[in-house]
Formats: sequence, structure tokens, C-alpha cells
Amino acid sequence: MNNIEFAQRFASPLGSPIRELFKYVNLPGMISFAGGYPSPSLLDSTGLMEAGLRALSDGSNALQYGATEGSAALRESLAALCSTRGVHCSADDILVTTGSQQAFDLLVRVFVEPGDMVYVEAPAYPATLQALKQAGARIKECPVDQDGLDIDQLTSFLEHVEAADRPKFLYTVPTFSNPSGTLLPQARRAALVGLAQQHGFLVVEDDPYGELSFDAPIATLFERGKLLAHQANPVIYLSSLSKTVAPGLRIGWMVAPKDVSRRCAVAKQTMDLCTSPLNQLIAVEYLKGDRYQATLTTSRAEYARRMRAMVDSLTSRLGNALSFVEPRGGMFIWAVSALALDPQKLFHAAVANNVLYVPGAAFYAIPPSSTAMRLSYAAPTVGEIEDGVERLASALLFATPQPSTCRSLTDV
Ligand SMILES: Cc1ncc(COP(=O)(O)O)c(C=O)c1O
Repeated sequence: MNNIEFAQRFASPLGSPIRELFKYVNLPGMISFAGGYPSPSLLDSTGLMEAGLRALSDGSNALQYGATEGSAALRESLAALCSTRGVHCSADDILVTTGSQQAFDLLVRVFVEPGDMVYVEAPAYPATLQALKQAGARIKECPVDQDGLDIDQLTSFLEHVEAADRPKFLYTVPTFSNPSGTLLPQARRAALVGLAQQHGFLVVEDDPYGELSFDAPIATLFERGKLLAHQANPVIYLSSLSKTVAPGLRIGWMVAPKDVSRRCAVAKQTMDLCTSPLNQLIAVEYLKGDRYQATLTTSRAEYARRMRAMVDSLTSRLGNALSFVEPRGGMFIWAVSALALDPQKLFHAAVANNVLYVPGAAFYAIPPSSTAMRLSYAAPTVGEIEDGVERLASALLFATPQPSTCRSLTDV
């Protein structure tokens, strides 16, 4: 465009690797394990329509501009919702955001100068990597094992870090992580808040999936942080209605100390003035009745059923060719192939077989050659999951260099 230079951070923009896959999702016959989407069958359109009518009958509030911090009624409802998760806070502690993605972006704006160090999990949710890269952050990838963030490795990084390389914050999805599906044990949670306290950094706990536990509720990191005697809680809590109600509402929130949320609200003023007041009031009306809990109960059972279908199909069809941890909630399986295969060849073979997943490399700041795949069982039906795994197995067979004697994948 003319000769006007783009801002440095957009000089050669790289889009989200997940959004780049959209072009394949709607190909005829495609079974997608790619998106972190709620199941269409679990979106309570009737309940939301009724909530919408009630919201609009209060026309003036729903159709006007609103406060940047969010509607008082929604902040009250979200504080009440938080307390059921052990995140005890008042309405004043809540900043309503346009999805929790915006909450993270606001934190990056108020904390990160170009060159600042931020720690993330590896693998990590790609949109956070994108926001950090745009802000010019230096990103340190902290490995994840079958139980989430590897606290021993993190401790070792922190013990050897130079003052200039200390992180401002560490970003984590400790409960049913995207993409690894892992659940950070309580002992590691305690150790993580201890490290934050000892080394003086914040922990951003991103928790869109915590309510989707297949068994007992999980205590948050935020709660752990509150237990620190005589210390400010180092944990900032983010969550969202996207996975439990509907992503189209674009309702997320942040629970943070006042000096943080005030600055985030100022940053939000120039982004969107306020989150859609209509959508906020729909959310208030929806959360008032018993439909939220009912939808949640159905969603937990249905996602558990789909997870079981995917785990059983992967195990029976692929045996030891893939290793993964069975998730205890959320939407994702992180499956790593034990086979020496070309990730590009595998992806193209899968697309040719009409099955889609997100290649593992998408979840790293510096993409490695990865044989991992993020598989979501949330949106496809059980039948589609079984067919999709069958197609994935054929793609794996195609992409694997064959030894001279013919073997099946379950032999590997
Ligand atoms: C870990 C994580 N954080 C944030 C988001 C964004 O959620 P929202 O729709 O609330 O912006 C997602 C969506 O997939 C996610 O998986």
C-alpha cells in the first residue's frame, strides 16, 4: 500500500496457525478434531433466546453503551460463579472482557515492554504466543509433562536466571490444558505459587475449561495463591463463558488486584469501549435461571462420553503408535506419534483422508519438528470420532516409512 511502512510488529504478520486451518474445516465430508469448539448440540439456543428476550425487554440498558469494567449485574453474577470455583472475590474485583482472549491481551498491554521476558508452557495456547510476539516479548518455553507444567525444570530455570531475564509473568492453563489436556496436581500448584512468591513474578491462570471436569471439581491456582500468608496473591485469574455457554457471546473476565484491573480497563477503553452490553445482559439473564447448571451437567457427561470414544478408538485402532494422557476434563487429547514420520506428510495425508487435527508445531513459540497432534473430541459426534480415528490411522500408515516386512500400526 503506497510506500507507507507498517508498524514493525505487523511488517510480516503471521496469522494464528489454528485459524489458518479454517479453509479445510468446511470441505465436504471433513471430520474435524481441530477446533476447540463446544459441540453445536450443547449450545442452548432456546435458553439463550429466552434470555435475549428478557435482556431486550430492559431495552435501554441492553442497547446503550455500558461501563468499560462491565455491567454491575454481570459482575455480580460472575463473582457468584467464581465463588463456586473457590475464586472468592467481589463484583468490584471483576473486569468483564470480550472473551478471555481480550483479558490476556490487556495484561500483555499493561505489563509487557518489548524485550520483557514472559514464561509460557510448552506446548501453549497459540493465541497467547501471538499476543506476546506482537508485543515484542521474549518468550521462555517451560516444558510440560503428563501432569502439566514441569515444576522441577521451572525451578531450575529460575535458580539460574540472570536478573535481566526474570519473567514478568508466567502464563498457564493448569486445568485441562489447551493443548495438552493435562491437569496440574495440587502439589505442583502449591509449588508454582511458592516460586512466584519467591522470585517475584505473576502467574496468569487461564481457566476456560475448569468447569468441564468429568469427576470432582478442581481447586484453582488462584485459591492456592490466596493461601499465601501475609502476601498478595500472585495469581491473576481469567475465565470465559465460551466453552460452557457459547463462544458467540464473547463474554470473558479477569479477577485481578485493583491496580492491575484499573490499568486493563484503561487499555480496554481504546479497544472496544465496552464488551457488548446486549451480550452481557443476555449472560446475566442466562446465569440467573437453572439452565446454566443444567447445560453444564449435560456438557460434562457428553464430553466424557466423546472423550471415552476417542480414547477407545485411538487405543484399539492405533495401539502403541500414539501415546497420550487420558484427559479428566476439557476438550483435548495431545497425542504424540512414536513413529519416525514426516509431520507435513502426515497432515496432508490426513486432509486427503478427510480428517483434520492441529499439528503439534502450532503450539510452540519456536516451532519444532513435532509428531504431536492436538485432537479435540468436543464437537464431533461419537460416530464421527470413530470414523475420524479410522481415517487418521490410514493417514499414519501412509505417512510412516514402511519396513520391508509389512506390519500393522498396532504392532508398533
Ligand atoms: C486456553 C484458552 N484461553 C483462551 C481462549 C479464548 O477464549 P475466549 O473465547 O473466551 O476468548 C481459548 C479458546 O479456545 C483457550 O483455549
